Amino acid sequence: MKPTFFLTTPIYYPNARPHVGSAYTTIVCDVLARYKRMCGYDVAFLTGTDEHGEKLERAAAAAGQSPHDFVAEKRKLFVALWEKLGIPVQIYPESDKDFLRFIYTDHPDHVRSVQRLLIRARENGYIDSHRYEGRYCVFDERYVSDSTDPVNCDICGRPAELISEDNYFFKLSAFEQHLLDLYERRPDFVQPDYRMNEVKSFVKSGLRDISVSRSRLKWGIPWPGDPNQVFYVWYDALTSYMTGIGYAQGENGSPQFQRYWRNQPGESELVHMLGKDILRFHAIYWPAFIMAAYPGQPEMLPTTIFAHGWIYYKQDKMSKSKGNVVYPEPIVEALDSFGAPGNDALRYYLLREAPFGQDTSFSYDGLIQRYNSDLANGLGNLASRTLAMVVRNCDGIVPNVAELNKKVPGLWEAPEAQAGRERFVRDIALAYEKFELSIVTERIAGLVAHYGDEFMAAHKPWEHTKDPNQKWLVDGVLYIALEAVRAAAVLAHPILPAATRRIWAQLGCAEYLGRIDEQRIDELKWGALRPGTRIGNPEPIFPRLDKAAALARLEEYAEADRSRNNVKEAAKSVETEPTKPSETSNAPASQPAKAEAVPAAPAQAPSAEPAKISIEDFAKVEMRSGEIKAAERIPGATKLLKLQVDIGTEIRQVCAGIAEYYEPGKLIGMKVVIVANLQPRKMRGVESNGMIVAASIGDQGRPVLVTFGEDVPNGARLK
Ligand code: MSP
Repeated sequence: MKPTFFLTTPIYYPNARPHVGSAYTTIVCDVLARYKRMCGYDVAFLTGTDEHGEKLERAAAAAGQSPHDFVAEKRKLFVALWEKLGIPVQIYPESDKDFLRFIYTDHPDHVRSVQRLLIRARENGYIDSHRYEGRYCVFDERYVSDSTDPVNCDICGRPAELISEDNYFFKLSAFEQHLLDLYERRPDFVQPDYRMNEVKSFVKSGLRDISVSRSRLKWGIPWPGDPNQVFYVWYDALTSYMTGIGYAQGENGSPQFQRYWRNQPGESELVHMLGKDILRFHAIYWPAFIMAAYPGQPEMLPTTIFAHGWIYYKQDKMSKSKGNVVYPEPIVEALDSFGAPGNDALRYYLLREAPFGQDTSFSYDGLIQRYNSDLANGLGNLASRTLAMVVRNCDGIVPNVAELNKKVPGLWEAPEAQAGRERFVRDIALAYEKFELSIVTERIAGLVAHYGDEFMAAHKPWEHTKDPNQKWLVDGVLYIALEAVRAAAVLAHPILPAATRRIWAQLGCAEYLGRIDEQRIDELKWGALRPGTRIGNPEPIFPRLDKAAALARLEEYAEADRSRNNVKEAAKSVETEPTKPSETSNAPASQPAKAEAVPAAPAQAPSAEPAKISIEDFAKVEMRSGEIKAAERIPGATKLLKLQVDIGTEIRQVCAGIAEYYEPGKLIGMKVVIVANLQPRKMRGVESNGMIVAASIGDQGRPVLVTFGEDVPNGARLK
């Protein structure tokens, strides 16, 4: 039986139209789902909408609709978007393979599923009821903070009232040790590894029991046995992953549930992909909710929780109210209007720009540049020039490599040549396996460059087309180049499904090799093209874009889309965005913004001679070399970056005031100097455990990071 792979994206709040940032998670998962299918897995892939809670209730009221009707209408936007992005959808309970399954939490099966999970946890003694005290905004009818400390509502600004009510609590504190044991036993449970460190230190700092019901909220799932309470939205939302695969159907879930919801190494994997903002809900609450319902059944836990970074636009996380939102539809349409495959171009660009897991910035400029350099000049050019030469010089028939093998076996048949080619495939598959999707794109571009410009330039088949004595060379070189096109198309298919399908048709190999999505990436062998068979009609796949014209068209389409949908632009934007539920509390975060804390740049030398210190004083400062493993912006802080620095013995989290001068993605892998024995402190609520050493240049104190002239191991002491 085929191994199973069950992949989920978060379910989206349907109150806002999805933008490029929210589409990102689903696009990435579509790539992974296609890849796994091409490795012989039986894949289930799920997304959906998170339809309960006060935010939706309020949006429905503002629209003059019942919450039920409101969410039913809004969910259609999501289904339409995935279809538009070339991801065919089926709405729950339909569940054919090869579709993106779509669950929504207003479905009656979901009510059963949430109640079922809860009842099991309650029977196991993990639910009790006691007094809840927190801050509630009566005006906006919303829970503002779980703490009793005075605070203003972050929407209307009025002081939130201290309320108390009887709520049901989940005994999260009972799972502290179980969670730490889980992380110890399965170090890959949370990925990337620096995210695992964040999660562990959060759990180690102590877990409080959490309220999982609400009495003042109406739009939610009824609490079993208590008509006055509804479920806390996150308990409800997380359980949708189980509902979507059939948990509510039958006594023990549907046969599909039995098949996919299992974590059995080598047999079944269960991966939750999500943005880093909702990591704690997935890596802490969710496994605890499952363990409470299914103690001693580790196969019920997911295999992997993978948190990816954010897509920024104009230096900030995309948000409609800030006016810095980019929507996918006009991008796709604008590129399509040039005859370019808009969807594929967008997918490629989103994956290519930053190491997967890190934040990345979206720009129209970058999109066009990437498209032209990697797709038009890269894969597209290799395909079209090779196919055109086959038409011109080989009557449109796949040529033979046999003569070339006799004369120069080192090019194709020799073991070194074969090993080199196989290495390309292996490395690309390995990067896919590790979800290193930017590396996948980089390596595919590398394969294309090797067999495109480099290989063709080395053998110049076009110089020998008139000489019948050199036909073996022209034929052999073209065969090898055609094979590179075929391999690149198969390897890139999960990322560029539409374009590679067209390349496949042009290679004319479907008749004897089958469809491109039926090819096995894990078993990809070179030399499958059959000499003597006819190729299809060569047509340009990735027409080169004129930058100015493309930028103008993208802006024109975005503008038309904005006016159609009444979206404000940054400068005109007036509203402020309600903050997301904070990661530590189960009520929305509500801390007023503090003045930005930036690590003090080394002071400018005062005019008087600075006091001298003794060597003993200097020795107190522990400076070490470190390597930056991850870097991301801190929301709301224009100057700060949060860095994860490997100092040999551990990964340190350090905040540095360098965001205006350093792009986070470009810092990865850089060796820096860190002051390792500073007292930890919090900046913008983020713990900083050390300081990065930088020179301070000019009046503005521009920071320039100190680095090394030669490679040094991480953790080397500076003396
Ligand atoms: N409804 C919750 C999830 C419940 S899952 C059981 C939620 N919804 S959301 O609509 O706000 O976000 C959905 C996903 O989109 C999250 O993974 C979030 O991180 C991602 N993104 C939303 N904006 C984003 C960017 N600008 N960039 C990248 N991903 C972002 O949270």
